[in-house]
Amino acid sequence: MIAISTNSKTRFYRALDKLADDPAVAKIKNYSQHKGTSTFRHCWNVAIYSFHLAEKLGWEIDEVALAKGAMLHDYYLYTVADKQKETNISDFRHGRTHPQLALENAKSEFYLTLKEQNMIRSHMWPLTLFHMPMSKEAWLISMADKYCAVREMYGDTKDLDPDVHTPWIRDLAHKKMRQVFEGV
Ligand SMILES: [Fe+2]
Ligand SMILES: [Fe+2]
Repeated sequence: MIAISTNSKTRFYRALDKLADDPAVAKIKNYSQHKGTSTFRHCWNVAIYSFHLAEKLGWEIDEVALAKGAMLHDYYLYTVADKQKETNISDFRHGRTHPQLALENAKSEFYLTLKEQNMIRSHMWPLTLFHMPMSKEAWLISMADKYCAVREMYGDTKDLDPDVHTPWIRDLAHKKMRQVFEGV
């Protein structure tokens, strides 16, 4: 498949940089997830990978909305490990409940279109059964979120170039497949 895209990298990065400089977005620098990755860094990674994926798939997207949805998708404003110490909340329950909290917090700071609200609310789908991604941007964020979470769990966040670490994921997948099929 030949990917033909008219997405503007400049428009995307300009929107992303503007969000990164916003003091309300900067709040998520104080919280961490996935083996200590800051929530800010995670959201930045998700934004970059979402855009990268759109280019790979040849999907025309709203670059500004994608940047906004990605940077705010985990705007739940706590560190998961701390919350678990305080409340005993399970990973599963956190997974199901934080998109709604992120949306409420984000709405209190930013104007969000219904499409942007859905990007945040649906990013954990299929865990959030009745809130599924309703746009290309929401699907991209949901997919990139899972991909980035795996990389972050393995501490593989040194380089943000999305192509650099693709072989790493491929090697891991091959290794896992060999283990499954050959019992190695
Ligand atoms: Fe999340
Ligand atoms: Fe996330």
